[in-house]
Amino acid sequence: MNPIIAPSILAADFANLQREVEMINQTNADYIHVDIMDGVFVPNISMGIPVTEAIHKHAKKPLDVHLMIMHPENYLKQFKDAGAAYLTVHYEACPHLHRTVEEIKALGCKAGVALNPHSPVYLLKDILKEVDMVCLMSVNPGFGGQKFIENTFKKVKSLKKLIVETGSNAKIEIDGGVSMDNAKALFDAGADVLVAGNFVFSSQNPAETIKNLKNIV
Ligand code: DX5
Ligand code: ZN
Repeated sequence: MNPIIAPSILAADFANLQREVEMINQTNADYIHVDIMDGVFVPNISMGIPVTEAIHKHAKKPLDVHLMIMHPENYLKQFKDAGAAYLTVHYEACPHLHRTVEEIKALGCKAGVALNPHSPVYLLKDILKEVDMVCLMSVNPGFGGQKFIENTFKKVKSLKKLIVETGSNAKIEIDGGVSMDNAKALFDAGADVLVAGNFVFSSQNPAETIKNLKNIV
């Protein structure tokens, strides 16, 4: 297996975004995770389309854009044009999830669906074959630097089973509170992609931290 690491730019120094993106370019990170928050779906506001575009201008890694917003269907094209490779919407924000996933793919992006900690994985059973990635939130979305919710391990295992049963090719991404303390167990349980914000950006040597996360399996 190839462990995929996606540092979350939410934990970067926003006053020096270019420098931070260039720093990530020099590491063996796989994607750059971009957290979009609207202050409605989640109780925080982060960044939007122009900042995503600015990140993309300097990024040499695909942008993994996580939309923590209501009505994401209204902004898909703008985020695609801003440089998103992956577009992840929340199950909890999409009453017409199938349509939204099809729209993401029609734009030429990979389609991701995120689940809040309280949403069981079986909710995605009938859409799993259509999605490229499922993002399991291992914290309540809205803030970086929160404590990892242990129940996520169970969810990874049941999601993995469901993916195999439905013949889906979806990757499993884990987002929130990822560190050296849980990375190996998450990959062992079936995770493919680990998002890491604070653990990477607060470390002495982010490149080394990313390398260690990637080499943990
Ligand atoms: C949480 C975001 C996460 C966050 C992860 O709402 O979706 O991507 O940036 O940050 P850490 O790794 O610090 O928990
Ligand atoms: Zn995220």
